Amino acid sequence: MNFETSQWFQNSIPITIFTFLFFTFTLLFSFFSFLIFIFRMKPWCSCNICWSYLTMSWANEFINISDWYTHLLKKSPTGTIHIHVLNNTITCNPKNIEHILKTRFDNYPKGKPFSAILGDLLGNGIFNVDGVSWNFQRKMASLELTSVTVRSHALQIITEEIHTRLIPFMISSARAEKVIDLQDIMRRFSFDNICKFSFGWDPLCLQPNLPVSELAENFDIASKLSAMRAMSVLPLTWKIKRFLNVGSEKKLKEAILVVNNLTEKIINKCREIGFSTRNDLLSRFMCSVNDDKYLRDIVISFLLAGRDTVAAGLTCLFWLLKRNQRVEKIILEEVNRVMNPVQEYPNFEQIREMNYLNAVVYETMRLYPPVQFDSKFAKEDDVLPDGSYVKKGSRVTYHPYAMGRMERVWGSDCCEFKPERWLKDGVFVNESVFKYPVFQGGVRVCLGKELALMEMKCVIVALVRRFEVRVEGNGEIQFVPGLTTTLRDGLPVRVFEK
Ligand code: HEM
Repeated sequence: MNFETSQWFQNSIPITIFTFLFFTFTLLFSFFSFLIFIFRMKPWCSCNICWSYLTMSWANEFINISDWYTHLLKKSPTGTIHIHVLNNTITCNPKNIEHILKTRFDNYPKGKPFSAILGDLLGNGIFNVDGVSWNFQRKMASLELTSVTVRSHALQIITEEIHTRLIPFMISSARAEKVIDLQDIMRRFSFDNICKFSFGWDPLCLQPNLPVSELAENFDIASKLSAMRAMSVLPLTWKIKRFLNVGSEKKLKEAILVVNNLTEKIINKCREIGFSTRNDLLSRFMCSVNDDKYLRDIVISFLLAGRDTVAAGLTCLFWLLKRNQRVEKIILEEVNRVMNPVQEYPNFEQIREMNYLNAVVYETMRLYPPVQFDSKFAKEDDVLPDGSYVKKGSRVTYHPYAMGRMERVWGSDCCEFKPERWLKDGVFVNESVFKYPVFQGGVRVCLGKELALMEMKCVIVALVRRFEVRVEGNGEIQFVPGLTTTLRDGLPVRVFEK
């Protein structure tokens, strides 16, 4: 051994020892963290509910997990249940919901577990943050979304998309006597709209040949895989997969990279064209935010918020109309009464006048809310108004899907699709948001509610006047687990021109 080699050998001994100690420590630390984690999750809990969850035996009786939760919540005298293995309290009690979303809002932030799950996709966008950053985005976005200019701009985008893409597509499907997937069409329609509205950029998803949009496709993959993280009993498993960059986590990373590259290009383009005179959200935010990463995060949250929710609402609405043709007839009568026969699209005033249509949209989402459940994390120990104890760090979920099916909330006809329940002497009367938390409620209520309602109503008016939409098959609805309501087999329909 020459001198240099022996010196290298001597020098490398402390490095080797250090490396060995470092890895041993890391392994031991991970192992004990894992044990503590397991201990806190109580995966051995053998109560019936936890056992059913872990073994998935609930699936023998119910086709959707939300139907199983509904069944459990119906049986609970307080309207609250606990899934110990998930450290999750689930409630459909309006008093508890008011407490979580309004009275003790400070104690129920989104929390770190939620931010970790969606953090890679949403970054510091409004959906994924609490505190100062949330406050800033909320103020900015609510100023924009309530401004008359932005609302008229949105109505213009929506009617143009209906006129130049949705109607021509429906006409050609009707003439070709083709079965189409209405869920897919609604998703394309709402993706075009939300991109034009948020970025001032048109992804052209609802072109006649139904092209694959790289952004839509990768955005879908990323939100689906992010949602899968939330369903894991042991979050450590997805964290390890992410660390090793394998399996679903590798796919998620790749999809997010594509989304990031494409949004970066859109942001650069917007800067090149000049943003000071444009009405899209990105341009408006660009006037006060310089950081491109932050701008990306802000608009990505809007894509998530505004795309699948509207499409889910519309898809379920057409499914319900097929089963309740009486309702479709009344909508048509109202539309013909309020609108001039030669007028194609309603204006703001006319949309406001259509009380029955508003009731139909509300009633659809009472039974099929686009966001079936939503969770927060308790900052400190707390007691809910129904006496349920909530431990610091545990998850609390309110469940609009189950709420719509509770006799104690909506009466004995709760499972019937009955728009009339929203009308008094023909005029729409709203309910408490804590009884109907479809758009959440309290401090973080949805900022796009009015826009979403307007978009949905414009589509219904345009379609029921010109087409008969016949849903194929009579099966029950089965959902795909995810952030928003998605029908497993889509909604196959045939369209006929009237
Ligand atoms: C039928 C359609 C819609 C439904 C049912 C809906 C429902 C919701 C719900 C439940 C939340 C709370 C989510 C959470 O905090 O975890 C929310 C938040 C939000 N929604 Fe919507 N939404 C709809 C459409 C839209 C549209 C079209 C936009 C934008 C143009 C939008 C923008 C937002 C934003 C920005 C938030 C975050 C508010 C905050 O955290 O302060 N939503 N929405």
